[in-house]
This record gives sequence, C-alpha cells and structure tokens, in this order.
Amino acid sequence: MGQPKKLIEVAMPIKEISAESVRDGRIQHGHISSLHKWWARRPLPVCRAVIFASLIPDPLDENCPQIFKDAVELLIGKGANIVDIYRPYDDIPYTAAVDKMDDNLRNRLLMFIGKFSEKYCKLGEKTASKEVLTEYSLIKWENKNNETVLTIARKLIWVAYNSIKKSNVTDLLMEYDAAFAAIKSAELNLYSSINRQRLTDPVKEKELFLRDAINFFLNRMPKVFDPFAGGGAIPLEASRLGCRSYGNDINPVAHIIQKASLEFPQKYGKPIVYDKQEFIKLYGERIWESQLLENKEIRDGEAISVRIENRLAFDVEFYASKLLLNVENEIGYLYPKSNPNEKIIAYYWTRVGICANPSCRAEVPLLKQFYLCNTKNKQIHLKPIIENSTINFEIKSGVIDGNGWVARGNLVCPCCGNTTENKILKEQFVNGNPKERLIAVIYEGKKGKEYRLPNQLDIDILNQIPEPKNRPKESLPVTYTKAMAFCLWGFNNWGDIFTKRQLVALNALVDGLKYLESLSIDEDKLYWDAIITYLALIIDKIASRQTSFGIIDIGRETIVDPFSKQAIQMVFDYPEQTPFSIDTAYWISLFIQNESPNFNSSICNNASSGDKSQFENKFIDAVITDPPYYDAIAYADISDFYYIWLKRSIGSIYPLNFSTPQTPKSEECTALKHHFDEDITKAKNHFENKLMQVFDAIEHQTSDIVSIMFAHQSTEAWTTLCNSILGSRMNITGSWANDTELTGALKTDKAFLSSSVTVACRPSQRQGFGDFKMVKKEIEKTVAKEVHELYSLGFRGADLLTACFGQAVSEFGKYEKVEKADGSEVTVADLLEMARESAFNALLKGFDGDDFTKFYIGWLQLYGFSISDFDDAAKFSRVGLNINVADLFNNHILIKNGNKQTLGDFTQRLSFNKNLGERSNSFLIDQVHRAMALYKGTNRSLLLQYIERTAAQPEGSFWRVVTSLCEILSPGSDDQKQALGLLTNKDSLIRESQILVKDKPEQTALELK
Ligand SMILES: C[S@@+](CC[C@H](N)C(=O)[O-])C[C@H]1O[C@@H](n2cnc3c(N)ncnc32)[C@H](O)[C@@H]1O
Repeated sequence: MGQPKKLIEVAMPIKEISAESVRDGRIQHGHISSLHKWWARRPLPVCRAVIFASLIPDPLDENCPQIFKDAVELLIGKGANIVDIYRPYDDIPYTAAVDKMDDNLRNRLLMFIGKFSEKYCKLGEKTASKEVLTEYSLIKWENKNNETVLTIARKLIWVAYNSIKKSNVTDLLMEYDAAFAAIKSAELNLYSSINRQRLTDPVKEKELFLRDAINFFLNRMPKVFDPFAGGGAIPLEASRLGCRSYGNDINPVAHIIQKASLEFPQKYGKPIVYDKQEFIKLYGERIWESQLLENKEIRDGEAISVRIENRLAFDVEFYASKLLLNVENEIGYLYPKSNPNEKIIAYYWTRVGICANPSCRAEVPLLKQFYLCNTKNKQIHLKPIIENSTINFEIKSGVIDGNGWVARGNLVCPCCGNTTENKILKEQFVNGNPKERLIAVIYEGKKGKEYRLPNQLDIDILNQIPEPKNRPKESLPVTYTKAMAFCLWGFNNWGDIFTKRQLVALNALVDGLKYLESLSIDEDKLYWDAIITYLALIIDKIASRQTSFGIIDIGRETIVDPFSKQAIQMVFDYPEQTPFSIDTAYWISLFIQNESPNFNSSICNNASSGDKSQFENKFIDAVITDPPYYDAIAYADISDFYYIWLKRSIGSIYPLNFSTPQTPKSEECTALKHHFDEDITKAKNHFENKLMQVFDAIEHQTSDIVSIMFAHQSTEAWTTLCNSILGSRMNITGSWANDTELTGALKTDKAFLSSSVTVACRPSQRQGFGDFKMVKKEIEKTVAKEVHELYSLGFRGADLLTACFGQAVSEFGKYEKVEKADGSEVTVADLLEMARESAFNALLKGFDGDDFTKFYIGWLQLYGFSISDFDDAAKFSRVGLNINVADLFNNHILIKNGNKQTLGDFTQRLSFNKNLGERSNSFLIDQVHRAMALYKGTNRSLLLQYIERTAAQPEGSFWRVVTSLCEILSPGSDDQKQALGLLTNKDSLIRESQILVKDKPEQTALELK
C-alpha cells in the first residue's frame, strides 16, 4: 500500500480560512499579537488549518487507512451529532456564498476545519465577522480552547498517526482518552497541592508525574517543526493541536517572544493554592483582602487559603505594577501634574525647522496638519497664532481648514511664506540643529482624552531632566534606506531616537527590573526568570511608545508604535506617553490566560536553521513554515529596536542569546542588498543558498510532509523559493492561496500579497527528462484549471497569478530536467514566466480578438480599474501579446497617473479621443467603447448606424467582447450598465440598424453625450 495523500495536497476550505484569517487580524483581546510586536505574523486560523490538513490523510485516497475513515465517520460523520453539524453544504438556492458539496468524508473534514454559518449563507456580507463561521469550526478564534472541538482534531491526528498500530478505531480512541485523562488527573493532583511554589519533594514528584503523562501523550503525536518560527503562530497552533512542536528562529527577540507565548503560559499559567500566611508574605495584606471570597477556603468562619486561577498571569500583573510604582516613585517628578488628580497620558511634541529666509529665521513646528484628534465624533485641533516670526497655538474643538506647514519634507513658513526645501531642512537636522517643541499635553478627562497647552511646570521640568546615564550607542542600519530612510536625517545610533526624558524613564525601568530580578522571590529560578521576561516585554512595549518616532493615530485617538509598516518612517511630530499610563501588563496577562489552558508547550530554539544535526534523520513528521519573504522585511535590522532594550533588561538571564552587540545579521535568510555593499546579486545568492541549506536539512530530517507559506509576489522571490525546494530534492504536491492580510500596513508594500500561498511539498521522485512542449502543455492545463477556480473565489491581480506558481512548479518538478528542443535546460525562472503567461492566457481563453482588446480584457479581470504599477503593464504587454507598452498609453487603454496607471473606462477613453472606434481598423475594444457611449447618448440613429457598420454579425467578435465585459465589469458601474444595455438589446439593435440603414443616408457627425 502506498502513502495516502494528505488532505492539504488535495483540498482546503479556502474561502472559510480566508474569512477567519482576515478577522484574526482585527482581534486584539488576548491575541498573540498583543503580547509583542513581530512583523507579518501569520494569522492563527490559516496556521491551524494548514497544520491540521498536513497531518491527516485524504479519506478519499485509495491508500487512506480504513481506521482513519472510521474515525472521521465516528467523530464528524452523520451520526456523530444529533444535529449534523459537519454536513457539507446543501444546495442553497438563495445564496452565492457556497456551492453544493457532496456528502463525503473529505468534505466533512473541510467543514470541520471551517464551515460558513447558515446566517452567512443567507445574508452574505451583512453577517458580523464573528458569526461568519459556525461555532463548531476548528479555526474559529472562539474555539482556541474549546475542548470539544480540539479533542476531535487531536483524536483525528492521533488516529492518523497511530493507524498502523491498531486496526480498531475504538481501541485507538480509548488509548487517546486514557492518555489524555492521565494528563488531566496529574494536573489536578499537582495544581490542587497547597503552597506548591515551595517545591517540596512531594510537589516535585507530582510535577514529574505530570511531565511523564504529557510525554507519554506526545510520544504518540506527530512532531511538527517550524524552522522560521518568528512571532510563533505556527508552533503555537501545532501545540494546540496536541503535537510535539518545535520552533527555531535566528533572532533573539523572536526567541524571547516565543518563550513568552509558546512555553511559559502552557507551563506556568496554571492554578495555585496558597495558605493565608504564605499569600500575605508574598503579596501583602491588601491583596489578600482584595481576593474574592469565592476563591477562598473558609474554615470555622475564617478564610484559610486562596486559589489563584492563573499563577503566571497573576504574578505578571502583580510584579508589573510593583515595577511601575517603584519607577514612578523614583522619576514621577519628571511628569509634573497641574493638579494632584490630573492623569497625564502623553505629551505631544513636534520637531522644529528653521525658515531658510535670512530675514525670517522663524522656528517653525514641523506640523503636517493641525488636528490633535479627528475621530468621527470628536475633533480637536491646534489653532496657530502668528505674530511676526513667533508662532503660538490655541487648542480648539471642531473642524479646521488648511494644511500644515510641511509637505513632502519641504517647510512652508507660516510667517513669511518662504519654502525651505527638504534638502536644507535635512541639513539642519544632520548638522545637529533639531530643536523640538512641546505643543500639547494629553490627559485623562471626564469624557476620555482631553488636550491642553503646556504650562510652565511642563516646560520648566524639561530643564531639570538629568543626563541619561546610558544612551544606546548601537548603530542604526543607516544604509537600509528602503525602510529606515529617517536615518538620512542625521540619526546614527539607536539611542538617537529617544529623547532625554524617554531614556531616563527607560533606564529607570531597566534598573527597576534588575532590582526585582535580584530579589529571586520564587524558589523556582526558571519561573522567576519567566516573570522577569514578561516585565522586559512590558519595557519593550513602553519603549515603543516612548520614542521620538512613535505615532499618534488621530483618527482613532491612540498612540501606536513606530512600526505601522515593517519600517520606521521619518516623523516630525510624535507623542511621548508617560511610562506609568501604559496598561501593557493587562494585555499581557490576558494573552497568558488565553494560552494557559493548553498543557503542551513548544520547544523553542534560538539558532539559525539548516543544521542537519539538529534532528536525527526523519525525526520530524511534518514541517510547517513561513520563510522570510526575500527582501520584504529586514527582521534583524528592525528588531534591533527591541534587542537593545532586551539585552539590557534580560541579557543576564539569557546570556547566550544576547551575546552579540546587536541581532545576528550574517546568517539571516534574506536578500537584503545593504548587507552586501548594495550588491543585489550577492544578496540574492545569499538568500537562495541559505534557503536551500534549510530545505536540504528539512528534507533530511522530515519523514512526511513540508508545508510552506509564502506571501511575496515578485517572480524573483518565487524563483528562489522554488529553486530551493527543487534543489533540496523535494517537489510541490499541492498549493493553496488564502486571503490572510488586512488591507493597510503590509499591503502598502507592493511586494506583499494580500493573500499568502501555501505549498505542500514532499521528497520528489523525479522521472528523468521532460520534454518542454509536453510539460508546457501540462502546465497550461493545470494553470488554466487553477485560474478558473481562484477567479471564482475572488482572487485577482498578482495574488491570482502568484497562486498559480505552485501548480506550475509541481508539474515541472516531476522531472529531473526539462529541456527545450535545442537541448537547453528550462530554468525555474523560465517556468514561472510560462506560468504567468498561461494564467493570463487562461483568463483570455476562448477570447479571439486583436491584442489590444485581449490586453484590455485580461487586465480588467486581473486589476479592474484599480491603480497599479508601471512594471505590471510592461510585464503583461509581453505575455504572449504583440504590444508595445507605449502604445497602451498612446491608445488610452491605460491612463498614466504619475508612475502608476489605471485602465481607461469608456468615458475617459472617448474624452481623450473623440474619434475612438471610427477607423476601419479600430481595435474591438475601441468599437465597443464607442458603441457604449452611443448607447448612453440620446441619438439612437447614430448608434444604429454604428452597429450596422461594426456589429452587424450577431456571432461576430464585437459581441463577444461586449459579453466578456458584461461578465467582468462590476455590476452597477456605468461601464457595465452600457455594456449590458447593448447586450440585452442586441437582437433589436441589429434588426433596427439594418432597417434604418436601408431607409436613411449615412450620417457621419459625432454626437456623443
Ligand atoms: C516570515 S517570518 C515568520 C513569521 C512567523 N510565521 C510568524 O507567524 O510570526 C520569518 C522568520 O524567519 C527568521 N529567520 C530568518 N533567517 C533565519 C535563519 N537563518 N534561521 C532561522 N530563522 C531565520 C526571521 O527572524 C523571521 O522571524
């Protein structure tokens, strides 16, 4: 019997995963993203789905073990629930949301992963996002700790993994139940022991017992490895599904985040019972009194002990408030209040430029706009008061007209009107003249945040700030101008992006933390280290709102970190949040509580992946990973922002991880040219070699499947990825696109897809030489099928094209080598270009017309009328079409807009060319656009004459273009209305046109409305 395919190799509920993944990006409370920043963390639903589907066989595969099919039937089959909750979709006539699915075991598994709710099927987009999936869907956020749903998933994985050991599903599931029950009973035994923090021998024995029970269970579950674990989403989900989960990351910041999200909550976030005396000794009388009675044990009318539901969350909150209080006592005077009850949230600062006009030299706050807050219901702004070259402000509520004084980095002086150019302004900064000015104070008022002008106290204190004893000297990546262009303004060291007061505060926090660390309050050193680690993450979070590059989000009235993208932008104004007003501990505690119910922690390793000796040959069952996206995110460079503080705060706890002055860069798997003296080829080779090394090790270490997520659209990035997969003796056996990104931050980088593509790979059995023509044909066929499916699922543009790459490579990778007729070898780059071409052609399948019209229709399908980059036009004009890109613009098929472009609609095209469609050899699209304009106009006889001249044949190409447009154009758009009008009236228009032309002399004048 051969190996059955895994579910991920044959089917995935793409629409359902996409819907929940997009929702995941908006969830904050208790979400892993609220623990600490990590860039481009994968959404949890997509990770959970991909892991699950990579570990279970396809029940329809002829080699699928019967015992697994029995398990699916038993757990999610027809008889598993009174209401058949995992029944595949029926034919629902009133909805376009879902299609009817056959009721088979494969489809039931898809429904278990994610099934649209009945409400969504009826109402479609009007359904609230949390109600889009049924409450029984595995990937739903609410089910992260749902024992019923998770048990089904874990049992299915257990059966799939152990299927050779038993032939009877009931026996196998009983073994699962026994192993799981042993963990629960060992947990109960340990966590109900009074004062277990004392680590007495009986407590240690119980701990050992629990560890053995967990190991016994995990030894019968697959081992899942993520060699690029980053912010930890994949290992987190692997351990949630009951697998032994491993994660590597080269970056020490990522490693610490992983420990705090994948290890500590699952290990330490458990109940504890203290007797009264011990509790008071640790936390004091006041906290004892504040504990709820229902958590206390009462004997003879007196409370004798208390149960804390989550020891770790409790301690993190307790020691965080202790740390903040200690620091406030020490440096609180630096944040003077105008009355004892005032609670200052933040100060609003601007950098100051000096007007270059020698007779003005005004010191101008570099404001891009004047709002302090501009939400739907609240507008507060600065009103400038200008006297000669002195600028003051009032704070007013309501709307303000006019722009600020800086645009595109140029300063327009409000005093004299002179423009100080960006270059001169920059020179002022580089030459050390960056003055800053405190503009407003934000404090907590009765109705939320309120704003006032700084008073004398606020100003005077600035002169009393002591010189910070430690200004970080670690260097900024000054040559990484793509993402760190602010360095060009004279910022050289990380210490330069913090003001004096910010540094004093951060140093005080670090000192406060070191003091707490030295107290070693807990007997268990590792537990105490865990608490201190969370406090260090709190300092990180404070640092991200205590830098002169923080951002005030006026639309939401919040303060955010400098990383709205995977970069730090130059900012001229910034908020300085008071360190004591940041409620980070609460958010961290919420996250801990969310992830604590799981008994299973991941094993995190801070190392560069690719070391074959890390695991024995075929030790790992599945690799699920999300490698770096080529050159899109310089993780090592940007994470230095946090590294410099973590090194100071917990470097002594993790000396090996923080042994380098800054994050390790040379082994990072990225294609960043600034690490290679701007040599892009060297950077690209580095990425490819590193990725190949990692995949090579993976192939050696993994016995089953490798699922790789990738979210980069450039062909170079995909070429490298595919080269590395093929080069490490694997081939792609399945590929899926998922919508995973929120619009906004990441999407603003052109390199990012709004979807990510997951490719499933296996060791390849390559079969000799492939004939180019044959392989090309196969690729065309596969890609055409893929394009059709993805198009119907709503994928467009680069997302659609890129999603086809996986399928194309899988055809290609079947052969050791593919050769052209002249004997030359086809490269992966050739192949991907061919896949693009096939995808574009598939979209135009059956469409027969001139190349300009083909281009128009193909482009419309991919991009609609949205703005796109010039490169895209150049690429597509070459895809199987004989077009010069300049002609696309000359003919107003595309309309230029700076270095961007949009497709011209019929109105725009006619406004540029009144004679559009009049030449005898006009393109079909020109003729159709002219006819659409005439149809919209009022002179029917002009329309009829035109129809008679160009569209008299009902089966002619003209009408095929009209039909295509009707299918593609957005319903309700003006273009679609006119095209649809023509099509619906096609017969009568042709008929009337023939009668009219017989009766009337031809008219030539144009009369377009
Ligand atoms: C795309 S991110 C992974 C994101 C992750 N899936 C998540 O959800 O947060 C890629 C990760 O690979 C790490 N990385 C880069 N080069 C590496 C190497 N040589 N060995 C191990 N990890 C590496 C980066 O530090 C980064 O965290």
